[in-house]
Amino acid sequence: MRIDIMTLFPEMCRTVFSESIIGRAVAKGIIEINAVNIRDFSADKHNRVDDTPYGGGMGMLMQAQPIYDCYCHIKDEMNAVPHVIYMSPQGKVLTQERAKELSKLDNIVILCGHYEGVDERILEEIVDEEISIGDYVLTGGELPALVLTDCIARMIDGVLPNAEAYSGESHFNVLLEHPQYTKPFSWHGKTVPEVLISGHHANIDEWKRQESIRRTFERRPELLDKASLSKKDCLFLQKIKSETKKTD
Ligand code: ADE
Repeated sequence: MRIDIMTLFPEMCRTVFSESIIGRAVAKGIIEINAVNIRDFSADKHNRVDDTPYGGGMGMLMQAQPIYDCYCHIKDEMNAVPHVIYMSPQGKVLTQERAKELSKLDNIVILCGHYEGVDERILEEIVDEEISIGDYVLTGGELPALVLTDCIARMIDGVLPNAEAYSGESHFNVLLEHPQYTKPFSWHGKTVPEVLISGHHANIDEWKRQESIRRTFERRPELLDKASLSKKDCLFLQKIKSETKKTD
């Protein structure tokens, strides 16, 4: 897979993709990630990429031309028509499910906005999808683009050691992940749940499933509507629901 990020701040992106798990995947050639500077495509003699909005209003808008030329350059290099995403607080909020779907594509281009936004016509011309990383506003699309790229990249085969690395974690199967513990057994007077050192795998799996349901119920109960729960899971859920009613 190849992901190209169109940005005014390429260095901000490059440091992230050269480190840690994503950095290793890039080094191994499992994924190619490029940060492309939109300013390099400015046709203005002062390299300007923004101007004031028609009709007045606050701040500056990014112009269509440098973004379009940047996009055409990337598309020619890819020799394919990429799926183009614009990072925007007006987009659909990113989910694990969408990241998994996007991880199956071969070519993705992400556009990062800055200032007060971009000329609407470039969105109509090249953008397939707008994605938000949450209901809050950041100063630019770079951090959201990094979040999206990380989330997509780790779903690609070979980036994480194995699918098990993410199949149990929060949101992958709708439910939040159960609590986890490592050595030492006792720390600050708190010990690890006994079942985890019992060596009894069926009991351990049952504990993990139940704690996952408990966490989701306590922190994100609305997710339980989307989860596929077995009869046993439902009985456990009823039990914790009645326990919380008693303590209310
Ligand atoms: N740009 C600014 N804020 C954003 C957000 N919440 N998600 C995606 N892009 C953004």
